[in-house]
Amino acid sequence: MNETIGNIKSRRSIRAFKQEQIKDEELQLILEAGLYAPSAHNQQSWHFTVIQNKEILDDLNESSKEAGKIFNDKYIQQLSNNEKFHTFYHAPTAVIISGKKDSLMPFADCAAATQNMLVAAQSIGIGSCWIGLVSLVFNGEKAKKYQDKLGIPEGYQPYHAVALGYKKVKSTKAFARKENTVNYIR
Ligand SMILES: Cc1cc2nc3c(=O)[nH]c(=O)nc-3n(C[C@H](O)[C@H](O)[C@H](O)COP(=O)(O)O)c2cc1C
Repeated sequence: MNETIGNIKSRRSIRAFKQEQIKDEELQLILEAGLYAPSAHNQQSWHFTVIQNKEILDDLNESSKEAGKIFNDKYIQQLSNNEKFHTFYHAPTAVIISGKKDSLMPFADCAAATQNMLVAAQSIGIGSCWIGLVSLVFNGEKAKKYQDKLGIPEGYQPYHAVALGYKKVKSTKAFARKENTVNYIR
C-alpha cells in the first residue's frame, strides 16, 4: 500500500504512553508536518505550544477536568469525574494548537495542522491522541492565567491539542467506517 495512505489508515488514538520522552528530532518532524498543513488564504494562523513539563501537564489535566465537570455533555462530565482519567493519558509531551482569532478560518487551519501531526507521528512510530478536552480550560475563567503561563500569544485561542509519546499499547483495529457517506455526481 502507498506509505501515506497506510499511515493515515493505521493511525489510531493512543491512550497509554511510556514515560520515556520522545526524541527532539522526532518532535521536530511532527511539528514541521503541522507547519506544512494547508490554511485559508495561506494565513498559517496557528501557534504551537510544546509542553514537556509533567507538573504543568498534570496541572492542566486537573483544570481540564474541572471545566469538563460543568460542560454540557454527559460523556465529558463522566470522564471528568473519573479520578483515574488523565486528560493527556500521562503522555510525556503535549502540543497545544492555538489559532489567530482574527484570521479567516483559524479553527479549520488548526485542525488541518493537528491532523498532519497525528499522521506524521504515526509515520515515525510515535503514539498520539487528539485532545479536544483541554480547550475547555481556555474558554473558562482560568483562560488568561494559562495563556500567560504557557506563553500563548495575545489574540490566539487554543483550539486543539495532541498528546505524544511512545506507545505503551499496540494500535487497535480501526472502527468500521460508516456507510453511505459519499455520493458522486458524474
Ligand atoms: C476534534 C476532536 C477532539 C478530540 N478530543 C479527544 C479528547 O479530548 N480525548 C480523547 O481521548 N480523544 C479525543 N479525540 C479522539 C477521538 O476520540 C478519536 O479520534 C475517535 O474516537 C476515533 O478513534 P481513532 O482516532 O482511533 O480512529 C478527539 C478527536 C477529535 C477529531
